[in-house]
Amino acid sequence: MPAELPALFHSGIRMTTVAHRIWETFLREGDCAVDLTAGNGHDTLFLAKHVLPVKEKSATIGPGCVWAFDIQTTAAASTRQLLERELTPEQLRRVSVINECHSNLKQYIQHKDVRLVCFNLGYLPKGDMQITTTPETTLAALDASLEVLAIGGHISILAYAGHPGGMEEYEAVRSWAAKLSPHYWGCSLHEFVKSPESAKLLLICRRK
Ligand SMILES: C[S@@+](CC[C@H](N)C(=O)[O-])C[C@H]1O[C@@H](n2cnc3c(N)ncnc32)[C@H](O)[C@@H]1O
Repeated sequence: MPAELPALFHSGIRMTTVAHRIWETFLREGDCAVDLTAGNGHDTLFLAKHVLPVKEKSATIGPGCVWAFDIQTTAAASTRQLLERELTPEQLRRVSVINECHSNLKQYIQHKDVRLVCFNLGYLPKGDMQITTTPETTLAALDASLEVLAIGGHISILAYAGHPGGMEEYEAVRSWAAKLSPHYWGCSLHEFVKSPESAKLLLICRRK
């Protein structure tokens, strides 16, 4: 974790930015990363810019790959549009945007070398607030994520308690994390105590 992180936490920034600052400490070019709630594609783009080489490289660095899932057709389309605007053709070839429920993750990813799986729970900002993530499929996707992580890989979950169903989903995810074996999994929770409605960040790390 970067030395300036405590100051960053108290500078009034959003938890999504804290998450990005943490992700960039362990993502490397050539890694495989998965966004399970692509939405408008901002997190997917962040992952792609950190793991996909701008030009193809042959040497020792892995080729890198990014997977993005969203259940909404409009969200998947808007993620694709953002990526097409911002990435090179070489990078785009290594991104797959899947318009499906994230609980189907293992139909697409069978390898166990994913460096980061991220979730940004809730509803799409400026989208249909009725379409939110739900505890049932989120927990199924979390179980599947455990099976594809590399040793040292992380799951990052941003959860919001301020919208209908948000607190229940956050509590379901928190108790799911609390039951993981500490032998294999490190779990931490980050929150702004004075802003109970802001996002909470859960990080899970595969130890071995
Ligand atoms: C808070 S938004 C994500 C924001 C996004 N990460 C970004 O950078 O714009 C949550 C997204 O989760 C999606 N979602 C809800 N249920 C889902 C499911 N079962 N599988 C995949 N995506 C889902 C919603 O359609 C919505 O786009």
